[in-house]
Amino acid sequence: MPEITLQSKLPQVGTNIFSIMSALATRHGAINLSQGFPDFDAPRALLESLGKQVMDGHNQYAPLAGMPALREKIAAQILRYRGVSCNPESEITVVPGATEAIYCAITACINPGDEVIVFDPCYDCYEPAVTLAGGNTLHIPLTPECFSIDWNRVESNISPRCRMIIINSPHNPSGSTLAHADLLELQRLAEQHNLLVVSDEVYEHLVFDNAQHHSVLQYPALRERSFAIYSFGKTFSVTGWKTGYCVAPPHLTAEMRKVHQYVAFVAVTPIQLAIAEFIENEPSYAGTLASFYQSKRDLFCTALKRSRFKLTPSAGTYFQVLDYGAISSELDTTLAEHWTCEHKLASIPMSVFSAEPTAQTQLRFCFAKNDEVLLKAADILCKL
Ligand SMILES: Cc1ncc(COP(=O)(O)O)c(C=O)c1O
Repeated sequence: MPEITLQSKLPQVGTNIFSIMSALATRHGAINLSQGFPDFDAPRALLESLGKQVMDGHNQYAPLAGMPALREKIAAQILRYRGVSCNPESEITVVPGATEAIYCAITACINPGDEVIVFDPCYDCYEPAVTLAGGNTLHIPLTPECFSIDWNRVESNISPRCRMIIINSPHNPSGSTLAHADLLELQRLAEQHNLLVVSDEVYEHLVFDNAQHHSVLQYPALRERSFAIYSFGKTFSVTGWKTGYCVAPPHLTAEMRKVHQYVAFVAVTPIQLAIAEFIENEPSYAGTLASFYQSKRDLFCTALKRSRFKLTPSAGTYFQVLDYGAISSELDTTLAEHWTCEHKLASIPMSVFSAEPTAQTQLRFCFAKNDEVLLKAADILCKL
């Protein structure tokens, strides 16, 4: 029988780099600082609560927008940490992971021919969603040294077809963060050109050196045109639970939910209830994350002082970029594989996050790991 033929809608897309590097790390018994997940457990009370919710019989579909108890807790957390009121009924949607919310927001808003601006290096799930919606992604590079946005360049790239800008702060993979002035520039341009914004804020609580996270929710003209997207996986060290939420004004939420209804319909019920109970009992937990991860960043960066890598300590996220220019001139993709096999340490090559990779010598390392693992990794790196 002839094989059925298919015209791929995503011909450029292969297996993502995170899966490739994690598999390679497992195969070679390497320390895995590639994929972004903690190697330590979530708070015990949260894990126990999930078991309890399951055994208490909370195992059927949740309401489409999420369990009301969790949406109320989310609204209270947004008020506590960002000083902003949100309506849990009409503005908050609980989703099975930030990725799903990003997909639904883009799908709900982007029509064929629309243009969407993203910044390179760029997290990998934005462009495929734009492509599947028939839109075109316009990649604007961040400035090479400090990974900041050149707003003049953005302004000169906004065409009449431009419909949306996607931002991500704190930023994966670079660890940079957007400042108040950036949000003001974004607000000015979004208003002037009537643009929607998807703001990927999954690392909102991981901002270091006493700096503040600036959310689109805190800027009135951005608030009315933005989807702000969050992940409990990052905040509570449960990336495998794939649970997050989307905050948007009612008319945008209504359209996003229409897509969510037919992509996933709901997020997992007992997980939602466990998170709601945990937040109820420990409302200040998220506020402890910055110092916890900052000490990991500092441990890793200090241990690398005697290495030949060049680095600027991350301002946020749990990723640290290292420049290996003084050690090798190999391509980052080749080197990341080579070091995983040879030196038993896996990282992510930075060039995979850009549409047009420029000549660069940078790797991304995840420091959401136990201290002994970080020190062992630093030891390997210092010998290179
Ligand atoms: C910047 C960014 N956005 C979104 C996600 C996806 O989050 P989730 O696992 O909740 O889908 C990640 C996960 O690594 C991320 O780093």
